[in-house]
Amino acid sequence: MSEQATLILGDSRYELPVVEGTEGERAIDIRDLRARTGHITLDPGFANTGSCESAITFIDGERGILRYRGIPIEQFADGPNFVEVAWLLIFGRLPTEAESRRFSAELTAHANLDEGMKHHFEGFPRSAPPMAILSAMINALSCFYPELFELEDDDQFRCAAARLISKVRTVAAYAYRHSVGKPYIYPDPKLRYVSNFLHMMFSQPYQQHICDEAVRDALNLILILHADHEQNCSTSTVRIVGSSQANLFASCAAGVCALWGPLHGGANVEVLTMLDEIHRGRVTPEEYVRLAKDKDSKVRLMGFGHRVYKNFDPRAKMLGEVAERLLANLGREDPLLDIARKLEEIALSDPYFVERKLYPNVDFYSGIILRAIGIPTNMFTVIFAIGRLPGWIAHWWEQHQGSVTRIARPRQIYVGNTEMDYVPFDARG
Ligand code: SDX
Repeated sequence: MSEQATLILGDSRYELPVVEGTEGERAIDIRDLRARTGHITLDPGFANTGSCESAITFIDGERGILRYRGIPIEQFADGPNFVEVAWLLIFGRLPTEAESRRFSAELTAHANLDEGMKHHFEGFPRSAPPMAILSAMINALSCFYPELFELEDDDQFRCAAARLISKVRTVAAYAYRHSVGKPYIYPDPKLRYVSNFLHMMFSQPYQQHICDEAVRDALNLILILHADHEQNCSTSTVRIVGSSQANLFASCAAGVCALWGPLHGGANVEVLTMLDEIHRGRVTPEEYVRLAKDKDSKVRLMGFGHRVYKNFDPRAKMLGEVAERLLANLGREDPLLDIARKLEEIALSDPYFVERKLYPNVDFYSGIILRAIGIPTNMFTVIFAIGRLPGWIAHWWEQHQGSVTRIARPRQIYVGNTEMDYVPFDARG
């Protein structure tokens, strides 16, 4: 008999089943709570609420552990390319060499956009936020592949996943090229995933961008480290939209919108703004940390803190090392990295951050790497989205294949007016 939780409400006692995951996480299963007790639970921000059972990613926030399908992310530091990790997340195991070659070939084949899509880019002002373009274009993509609205078998799904993962680069690069008034650069089938993206971003019609190996490896690892993070805000959004049986493209477009927020994927842009403010001498690191502790300032130490990690975010540790290594490989220094290290040192010795277990998160160092690669700040969150896309697709498919997929529809506690009558205009005070 599995363990039970006892709920006492007035004179009644209710036994609720406790479920346990493969890593010992435990949850009280309340799926029939309202039917049995007339009560619901209330958990703003869902900090204590599990929305599903998932086999994709495991996080231990107390110990700073992050694993994709059981593999610790530290083991991806010098190994696979992003496409292989995308396969692992989506299909639940490492691909054979033949599967990996075939998937890469599908990505290469699907890198181009329908020429009709270019007109959509032209319709945006050059100042349009790239995340607005990205979410719009992912939905627009689906209009060219209506056969992928209904994904009934594995082959159809794999084709849709390959198209999305491949074309998201082209959409992102075209959004950038449009914003700077440069011609679109077609994908080069000879190039692999990351090199092809940088080619589309930085080549000229008359001169191909040669991708520095250190830059390619750094961006490859950034994409891997952003690839999934269990039920974060944007992935939960993809699951909620997908639970209505909306198609994969619409669900991922919604994920882009959620990721855009400055408390989520938009934080990597805010971190650079914060570091730049300090670099320009408008505020010292010490003053900034003081402001971040002062609730009235509305200032937060961006790139710090996390809903789940109450220890170092393992991605932040790895990205801090990647930033150091890349700058050394490029023979460059970046004062913002020194400022980031200084902020980290001050914060991690300050009781306010220590007591609240606020550590650097994935966004704290990623912007410094992207800046070193030459990615403009307004594209930082787009890079996060390119990385996170396989995770969104994996969760959408896991939910889509689930035996019990109910539409996501939380309850609420109503605190508005009790019943009252309509008052015509001439009787109103
Ligand atoms: C991502 O969920 C994921 O997995 C997300 C992500 C992923 O891979 O998908 O990891 C990516 O979104 C990383 C987070 C990026 N965002 C930021 O860096 C923005 C700054 N961080 C915070 O806004 C905050 O830490 C959150 C949003 C990340 C987490 O918010 P929570 O869990 O709701 O925490 P909270 O706001 O309740 O804070 C708890 C306390 C509060 O103080 P008290 O009320 O207890 O006195 O900590 C304080 C907060 O004021 N606090 C901060 C702080 N973060 C929390 N104070 C100053 N600076 C901060 N950064």
